[in-house]
Amino acid sequence: MRIAVCPGSFDPVTHGHIDIITRASKLFDKIIIAVSVNVDKKYSFSIDERLDLIKRCIVNLDNVEIDVVDGLLASYIASVGACAIVKGLRAMSDFEYEFQMALANKKLNPDAETVFLITSSENMYLSSSLVKQIAGFGGDISDFVPTQILDDVTERFCNKNFLGGNENEH
Ligand code: PNS
Repeated sequence: MRIAVCPGSFDPVTHGHIDIITRASKLFDKIIIAVSVNVDKKYSFSIDERLDLIKRCIVNLDNVEIDVVDGLLASYIASVGACAIVKGLRAMSDFEYEFQMALANKKLNPDAETVFLITSSENMYLSSSLVKQIAGFGGDISDFVPTQILDDVTERFCNKNFLGGNENEH
């Protein structure tokens, strides 16, 4: 069985993430969405909330599971017997960061390949940070996050102005 891991913060999950996960699910036998927990990072949604939001968006994807990664991704990959890390690439601005992580992960776990899927053109500009910023200022995010989670994400940010996040978030 060929297992791939889709890692990320998913704070919150967006159409861009679901697009990459859906396409990856057709390339591998099993996909594990690895939701990261980093004590130094300020998330807008708790780990349980992020897992719940993702779960509601992947009910139709039979070969996709969700898990938490709170250590090194390279070690996690080995522990679940995955052969690949799948990441989405939006623009050249993503490349340097992703290139560095891919090389570091390859060094730490030579058995795993990083596979990049080019984002669908409609999601080129989309990031979790952008979703938070737009929602924080009362904008409509219905084109950016799945319908199943729209109300929860909107509610979290409404009237709170922008709660920050990573610039490079997917
Ligand atoms: O959605 P993000 O925040 O861009 O995802 C970043 C993520 C989770 C892929 C990255 O931070 C990660 O791999 N974290 C696990 C810890 C780790 O292995 N760090 C070294 C990466 S070379």
